[in-house]
Amino acid sequence: MFKGKKIALYVTGGIAVYKVVDLMRELIKNGAEVRVAMTPSACEFVSPLTFQVLSRHFIYLNTFEENDPEVVNHINIADWSDLALVAPASANTIAKLSAGLADNFVTSALLATTAPVFIVPAMNANMYKNTVTQENIEKLKNRGHYVMTPDKGFLAEGYEGEGRFPEKTRILDELKLAMRDQDMRLPLKGKTIIITAGGTKERIDPVRFISNDSSGKMGHALAEAAWRQGATVKLITTSQLETPGYIERLAVESAAEMYNEVHTLFKEADALVMAAAVSDYSPKNVEKKKMKKQNELTLELKKNPDILMEMGRIKAPQQCLIGFAAETDNIIEYAKEKLTAKHADLIVANDVGKTDRGFNVDSNEVTLVSHTDEPKVISLQEKSKIAREIINWLIEYYN
Ligand code: PMT
Repeated sequence: MFKGKKIALYVTGGIAVYKVVDLMRELIKNGAEVRVAMTPSACEFVSPLTFQVLSRHFIYLNTFEENDPEVVNHINIADWSDLALVAPASANTIAKLSAGLADNFVTSALLATTAPVFIVPAMNANMYKNTVTQENIEKLKNRGHYVMTPDKGFLAEGYEGEGRFPEKTRILDELKLAMRDQDMRLPLKGKTIIITAGGTKERIDPVRFISNDSSGKMGHALAEAAWRQGATVKLITTSQLETPGYIERLAVESAAEMYNEVHTLFKEADALVMAAAVSDYSPKNVEKKKMKKQNELTLELKKNPDILMEMGRIKAPQQCLIGFAAETDNIIEYAKEKLTAKHADLIVANDVGKTDRGFNVDSNEVTLVSHTDEPKVISLQEKSKIAREIINWLIEYYN
């Protein structure tokens, strides 16, 4: 998401300046082009040379140091950037921004920029809580700037409080969220999509269960791909895989729990993508205590609800239903049968009899089987790319 983004990084005074070096490297590693401007106070904490060496560009420090007569530097960086990132943002700079002051390079460029402004405050807890700082933050938010809340924890002053520079992953997640929300052209904006992922676990007793090899990778990749295209995503998952903070995650274990979550959310959803490997059966009786070893054991199983089929039965005409078909033979034929039987709009058929695709690997090959088009093969590649293709199909469907 940061690939090719032009980010102006405005660094102001505070002990957290050293953490921003790492944040800048992460942005560059993710493909962003970063230019840095620092206030005089920021330079007290970390030398501009550190930022210069790592960003491989000179650092803007002084409004009146104009080496190139062709440009005015603080206007140039303001016009050049797609995003203005103020990190760490001191109480002093926040106050200046809220008052519209332009008394150094950073505040002058920020007054001139038309790019979205993303602010990461970090300061002493009492400074942060002070009414005047809170009023200034409120003003900036009302002007459309995105202002993060700092982390709570152990401060440089030696006591606990709210004011710590947030963890890097939280900053990156919120940055992505803010950037995505700025982009009004995203095709799935306003759409809510439910995605299921992972293999369900059907309990036999407190320590044993029936399950399958699904890791959740395919479903989680779909959640990310749909989110990037502007959708509000609700990911119902059995998987232990991590999810970014911007994706709403509902953890479930069994097919019955998954059914309940899907059923509750489905009415308000525009689409459902069933990538989960739902167990078709579960034990009729779940033992409360660990079962003792026996020479022979017969488990009685009962049929689980078929979530996709049930949603196909109640779906409104404008709702889109995407199911998967995990097959080892007659892939297209069985996918077509599932398309009709489950009232789906699309079946994503995959071969789960090979080791380089399907369950619990990073890649997949799928065939899109719909009512309208000839089956379309999406050749073997990373699940993130397969997910993008499936979401592109959904975008086309809405068009
Ligand atoms: O999680 P990964 O390790 O990344 O692996 C990905 C995957 C192989 C699990 C995925 O690509 C996949 O194929 N998911 C569907 C697995 C499956 O249950 O397929 P099925 O052919 O048995 O079921 C057909 C469809 O009905 C599926 O969309 C399934 O979610 C749904 N179903 C099945 C049974 C049931 N009781 N309720 C359902 O809704």
